[in-house]
Amino acid sequence: MSDIDAMKAQLDEIRQQALDAFAAAEDSDALQALKVKYLGKKGELTGVLKGVGGLSVEDRPRIGQVVNRIKAELEQAIEASSSVLEAKAGEARVAAERIDVSLPGRNRPRGALHPVQQGLDEMAAIFEHLGFEIAEGPEIETEFHNFDALNIPPEHPARAMHDTFFLRDTEDDEPMLLRTHTSPVQIRAMQRFVAEGHEPPLAVVAPGRVYRCDSDVTHSPMFHQVEVFKVDRDVSMAHLKGVLQYFLSAYFEKEVPIRLRPHYFPFTEPSAEVDIGCVFCSGKGCRICKGSGWLEVLGSGMIHPNVLRSVDIDTSIYSGFAFGLGVERLVMLKHGIPDLRLFFENDVRFLRRMGA
Ligand code: PHE
Repeated sequence: MSDIDAMKAQLDEIRQQALDAFAAAEDSDALQALKVKYLGKKGELTGVLKGVGGLSVEDRPRIGQVVNRIKAELEQAIEASSSVLEAKAGEARVAAERIDVSLPGRNRPRGALHPVQQGLDEMAAIFEHLGFEIAEGPEIETEFHNFDALNIPPEHPARAMHDTFFLRDTEDDEPMLLRTHTSPVQIRAMQRFVAEGHEPPLAVVAPGRVYRCDSDVTHSPMFHQVEVFKVDRDVSMAHLKGVLQYFLSAYFEKEVPIRLRPHYFPFTEPSAEVDIGCVFCSGKGCRICKGSGWLEVLGSGMIHPNVLRSVDIDTSIYSGFAFGLGVERLVMLKHGIPDLRLFFENDVRFLRRMGA
């Protein structure tokens, strides 16, 4: 084979390789690299031209023509591949940006109030409906508000029974404590009321957190109470019982029987513990009411005259009733929640079930 034929064959091979490579290029960057590789100054075609020195004078232009033809052909092929690639890239971009309006929306889990808060809100709403006004007091209390003013003097055994968390107990500081019940709100609300120059009636509902140094299956060191009281002329136990009956039936959303059992609280006289007919067995007797048919739900009584006196309310004119209930206990009874600790573990499975 003559030199020129060998060269032509070589050029043809390069041409074929280049065409195949252009067709296979995946993107325009790859194509650009191939263009340099085959058509660039140091590219394959130019490389072949370096060999023309060995050809005869008449063969040189022939090879030049072949090279130019191949060059033009390859340039055209690159042009064609380039527009194909660009079209493809455009399609891919459009596909990537397409919005499928028929896709379902992304679900965001809905939050809910804690079951204890739900209970507090429900209870407060029932009393507000009856005309009671909401009041709040501090969780860090003085001994005066938590005990003394409530007719629990320093050496009274009831103080010891309250399992109090004391915060400060030095000689010169007044001892502070975490309130053991919401009854101090009675004192604060009445003090404020009197200081503002009002005369009873006064009807208050006071929901809030309370603390006792006590922890087992049925006791938590922090729990919630709702305190309810009313002071007016001629307030009697009949009013107390009427409000209790209304409230408990409204809260349990059914007529529940109630009974008052004589009891002792320093701040009420007479005092009574209040039972409802067992909501699980309707009074027949079951495991939960220990066969008695009754469940104890709250403490109550007529506000002790000493309590009214401690806030300068005239006991020759006014009397009052008061009661305090444990929120967790009532929520457990209403929803059949078996264990107090579920409220505080914050297991989302429990909270979700109670959420709706
Ligand atoms: N404060 C009492 C308690 O925590 C409940 C109570 C309130 C009883 C008001 C009578 C009147 O046990």
